[in-house]
Amino acid sequence: MSVVKVGLLGLGVVGGGVWKVLQSNDSEIARRAGRRIEVTAVAVRDVDKARRLVGDRARIVQDGMEVVRDPDIDIVVELVGGDTLARQWVLEAIEQGKHVVTANKALLAKHGNEIFAAAHRKGVMVTYEAAVAGGIPIIKAIREGLTANRIQWLAGIINGTTNFILSEMRTRSLTFDAALADAQRLGYAEADPTFDIEGVDAAHKLTLLASLAFGIPVQFDKAHIEGISRLAQEDIGHAERLGYRIKLLGITKRGADGIELRVHPTLVPSQCLLANVEGAMNAVLVNGDVVGPTLYYGQGAGELPTASAVVADLVDVTRLAAAEPEHRVPYLAFQQDAMVDIPILPI
Ligand code: NDP
Ligand code: HSE
Repeated sequence: MSVVKVGLLGLGVVGGGVWKVLQSNDSEIARRAGRRIEVTAVAVRDVDKARRLVGDRARIVQDGMEVVRDPDIDIVVELVGGDTLARQWVLEAIEQGKHVVTANKALLAKHGNEIFAAAHRKGVMVTYEAAVAGGIPIIKAIREGLTANRIQWLAGIINGTTNFILSEMRTRSLTFDAALADAQRLGYAEADPTFDIEGVDAAHKLTLLASLAFGIPVQFDKAHIEGISRLAQEDIGHAERLGYRIKLLGITKRGADGIELRVHPTLVPSQCLLANVEGAMNAVLVNGDVVGPTLYYGQGAGELPTASAVVADLVDVTRLAAAEPEHRVPYLAFQQDAMVDIPILPI
């Protein structure tokens, strides 16, 4: 069986998970991909720490450029985070004609239009299933499962850290700070957790979902964003007594005048499905004009659930790499010239 060679940028919570899944499920993954998927180079800051996981099975370097310019590497997986080095490395990987898999919603929400345009020019794929809702295959569902529909709205819990904090505050009376510390320890939070608690991470993800659902460019700067940092235990208690749970929701809706794009804490009646999504679980409701409401539920953050989505993208890209660009679904999803110009409404 032939081998596809992968360069891994980052070996932290998600990168470490990807490494482990590729080792533990290698034969199933190879069967599904049609080729063996082998990580041949890894870029990290702390080489010794990476060596303890990887041993001598892959080259370990500190400069991601070495990985993206390695002519033997077919696919680059970006799991470093941030939008400076990650942007440079991803754009260079594309320039080198490599396919890219990333979990980096911050990068794509800010620079997605530039990155997808570059990928189109070079005829390579950029896939990002893990960037939205962790292990839930929500990108694939919208991109491939709902193509018969005009999507009218979608709404959901798309940040595991804040849902975990709100659940812990309600069910275990933990303080906000203690619950956030637990979320960080469990690997759910962003490197800068203000992205989670101020709703920015959810807005990054919502921007990507709206772009895919409505065929519009990525427009993070137009999203309305409110986080949960000003919520107190009393707010959660009051909501509970009135028959509601407070959830940080991302909501996007197409109306006659334009598209709403908003993230904010929301009172959800406690008998609703979304009210009962607890811990780091995520759930996304998508309403299409043909299918009606559909619901997607699963672990929204953490090592192995997120690795599950990254590896699924790796399998897809490996299989589709042999096809002509026009036959590859991820490549077709972001055709800039086919995008529609619908205004984002101010909230
Ligand atoms: P971590 O902080 O755990 O890992 C980051 C990795 O990148 C580390 O291996 C780190 O090296 C490496 N790195 C950082 N800066 C550099 C640099 N300058 N040069 C070389 N290597 C560098 O982050 P996560 O794994 O949690 O997140 C990675 C990405 O996945 C982010 O974009 C995040 O938003 C996204 N994501 C995370 C999820 C989660 O649940 N954690 C879920 C979905 C998406 P070293 O190990 O040496 O420090
Ligand atoms: N920090 C993110 C969250 C990771 O808590 O949802 C998953 O994208």
